[in-house]
Amino acid sequence: DKGEFRHFMLKEIFEQPKALKDTLMGRTGNDAVLEQAFGSEASDIFDQVKAVQIVACGTSYHAGIVAKYWLEDWAGIPCNVEVASEYRYRKTVTLPNTLFVTISQSGQTADTLAALDKSKSQGYLASLAICNVASSALVRNSDLVFLTQAGIEIGVASTKAFTTQLIALQLLAIALGRRSNINAEREKQLVKGLMDLPVFAAAVLQLNSHIQTISHHFTERHHSLFLGRGVQYPIAMEGALKIKEISYIHAEAYPSGELKHGPLALVDSDMPVVAVAPSGDLLEKIKSNLEEVAARGGKLYVFADENAGFTNDEQTTVINIPHCQESIAPIIYTLPLQLLSYHVAVNKGTDVDQPRNLAKSVTVE
Ligand code: F6R
Repeated sequence: DKGEFRHFMLKEIFEQPKALKDTLMGRTGNDAVLEQAFGSEASDIFDQVKAVQIVACGTSYHAGIVAKYWLEDWAGIPCNVEVASEYRYRKTVTLPNTLFVTISQSGQTADTLAALDKSKSQGYLASLAICNVASSALVRNSDLVFLTQAGIEIGVASTKAFTTQLIALQLLAIALGRRSNINAEREKQLVKGLMDLPVFAAAVLQLNSHIQTISHHFTERHHSLFLGRGVQYPIAMEGALKIKEISYIHAEAYPSGELKHGPLALVDSDMPVVAVAPSGDLLEKIKSNLEEVAARGGKLYVFADENAGFTNDEQTTVINIPHCQESIAPIIYTLPLQLLSYHVAVNKGTDVDQPRNLAKSVTVE
């Protein structure tokens, strides 16, 4: 039942404050992560983890790349991320004490299941599934499980499943990191950030009608670039995937530092360039990257921290995002990008919940 919403995708985007809250429920206590959320054996296994290998597909793969930044930045734990269709068919090397992590909304994606199968003969410490479906094969076949509480996702484009996966992965990074680089105070600060998420998610959804207005600039375009740096690079990748799959507009994501190495040649007034620019260490770098785009006549759409100092001008449209703690910014900035692709798709009249050529669960190779 879509209720007041025109499409399941929009309903599911708006369910995110609740999905995030439900996924956090019972997973933290006393300003700390409760490791039982990953299973009763989790603490013993986490004590031994020296590296993480993540395998997933599509949007779930993008969640994995975000996790790589968190695991390496915060926990000092080396992390590899690979799409399941590649991982399953190549000869891979397993480092000692590596945790094998799969991420999947459905828990029935054929390539991800096959990758988990392969992992069993590769000498991993244990397997962990981050999954939204308790009864799935992925959950059944994994040693440890974290169940996201997104609720049923009907729209083919993954929205609330992705942001709840990011919560699971952030809790994992904190749990592993508390054994090394994350002290109790830092953990408290990170957990506080997570607790604030539902409120920030609700606040950012208030931008819906503003984003709808901007979406008309994309309807007649054939190409677009999505830029982000650091942990926001995979968020730009996810924004680009959403535009491709439901709006049928070709989109490429780049870490903005790569612009000069090729894609800048594509930029002209017909190429909308979407950038995610929260506050943080890389802000000044992003600003100078975007100036290069503007100097070539590119039209910029910047999703920026309200305090970042971006201003609207002829070439730049700024969408101000409420200032939030840096640790949750990737989750918060995902929502306006989902809304953008949704409105562009509606403008174009595509089948938003059932995009052409795609299926909700890819159970065959
Ligand atoms: C994109 C999308 C797909 C899925 C991918 C993996 O919006 O929905 O890219 O993320 O097919 O599916 P799961 O997470 O069920 O393994």
